[in-house]
Amino acid sequence: MRILGISGSQRHEYVSGTRALVAAVLENTELDYELVSLRGQNISGCTACLRCTGDNVCKVEDDMTSLREAVAGAEAYVVGAPNHFSGCNAQTRAFLERWFQFRHREGDLLWGKPGVAVGVGGLDGGPPARDIEGFFLFNLIEPVASLTATGAAPCYFCGFGETCGIGIPRMRHGDDVKIGAEIIPKVSEQPETMRAAAQAGKRLGQCLRDGWNRKEAALRAQDRLMDWMAGK
Ligand SMILES: Cc1cc2nc3c(=O)[nH]c(=O)nc-3n(C[C@H](O)[C@H](O)[C@H](O)COP(=O)(O)O)c2cc1C
Repeated sequence: MRILGISGSQRHEYVSGTRALVAAVLENTELDYELVSLRGQNISGCTACLRCTGDNVCKVEDDMTSLREAVAGAEAYVVGAPNHFSGCNAQTRAFLERWFQFRHREGDLLWGKPGVAVGVGGLDGGPPARDIEGFFLFNLIEPVASLTATGAAPCYFCGFGETCGIGIPRMRHGDDVKIGAEIIPKVSEQPETMRAAAQAGKRLGQCLRDGWNRKEAALRAQDRLMDWMAGK
């Protein structure tokens, strides 16, 4: 496996826009990849116990333990998360916090690898995509593409979507909304989104085929991190 794809959504494969978009990016790389879904996995956030500082191996035992090698061994990452209250959902956040284990004493396992950030929201996929980009930069992973899409908000399925004043169906379609399959956003049926996913995948594949220089990429990521922290 050369590229590790992560879908942070807790929803079923058939409804998750995040999973569909991460999969589309990976398929277009034309390289060997693995797609890991965090759905149903038992992964806590970093507990800040610092037991990883000596050897850069996290000692918290849960489902992250078996994912460590895949993260460490991948040459590139495609990480996607749903928007939950204007940011990454908790599951993706917990998973990414655990990458703290790789960075002690200038641990360079992640430095300079390329990454693609994917965010999907019922209204806006931007916040999780930006969270993931920021996370990449903090770990000197260079974001080479960022994608956002509109997914199927739970309010289309909750049973109250036509009447609830704060639900996404009425926000998107107005007060007289009638919920049917034709108005429920499906990432895989959005041509522009799928074109952007194909472009991002091809770009990532090309980066690795062209002989990616991790040292140069780490320096570029460091520059971008400084700008990002300065709010530029
Ligand atoms: C707890 C929760 C909070 C959410 N908050 C937002 C939000 O702040 N903005 C938004 O655009 N969508 C929000 N959504 C909608 C999801 O982002 C949307 O359903 C998206 O399709 C999820 O991606 P997935 O299908 O891959 O899980 C929220 C959904 C849940 C369950």
